[in-house]
Amino acid sequence: MPGIFSRTPKSSEADAIFDPQGVIPGHVGIIMDGNGRWARARGLPRAAGHRAGTKNIRRVLTESVEIGIKVLTIYAFSTENWARPKDEVDHLMRLISQSIQEQLDDLDANGVRILHSGRLEEVNPSLQKEIRHAIDRTRHNDSIVLNVAFNYGGRAEIVDAIKEIMREGIPPEEVTEEVVSQHLYTPDLPDPDLIIRTGGEFRLSNFLIWQAAYAEFYSTPVYWPDFDEAELRKAVAVFQHRDRRFGKIEDTER
Ligand code: FPP
Repeated sequence: MPGIFSRTPKSSEADAIFDPQGVIPGHVGIIMDGNGRWARARGLPRAAGHRAGTKNIRRVLTESVEIGIKVLTIYAFSTENWARPKDEVDHLMRLISQSIQEQLDDLDANGVRILHSGRLEEVNPSLQKEIRHAIDRTRHNDSIVLNVAFNYGGRAEIVDAIKEIMREGIPPEEVTEEVVSQHLYTPDLPDPDLIIRTGGEFRLSNFLIWQAAYAEFYSTPVYWPDFDEAELRKAVAVFQHRDRRFGKIEDTER
């Protein structure tokens, strides 16, 4: 009879080794935190941290394709980030616009499909246009989805879904979890399997709060600009060692 003593104790997550043949998280969400601290540690302005962070997206995206991740959602700008000093907000807006201009050809050539989650109507019209163009141009690509959460808030997303459901006149008794999911910003994406937060905090900060219900959460003290290929593999290795039960119990405990 299997009992508590017959179970192999879990090895420490720090020892987890990435298995390329093991289960790969289909959708990974990343809270790219620590750009400011990365810069401060080097005596550089915060803007330099955001620039380094932007560069790092490409490195992690390439490694994600290599590993077999199908969707990467990155938290680029939250609905709360407008409260940062105007200089920093302007810099982040410029970085996003510049990244689209400089990277779009290459992302497209590499089969990256770009999506956006968030309230696009609240951003500068020329940036809106650039983002819509990037989405449209890459819509048939299928090597990986890069979903950019930009002017994104999880609560705002749920509020927007409720508004849409009401506008469509769906009666309350027909509102199910499935209906809510279908009215989120990216209804066709699967829920995230793994949420990575760099920079050492242990919170979701309004990121994918509906979709993350059963996601595995991984936090690392590494600042986002330093989160390289090996760090991504480490996060996936830890995911591979987790026991996902989705609210159920293990077979051995029945
Ligand atoms: C958190 O670091 C990071 C952000 C608020 C923005 C993340 C944005 C980028 C990496 C670049 C723009 C995105 C694209 C898609 C080109 P922080 O400033 O909170 O760092 P700190 O906690 O160390 O101060």
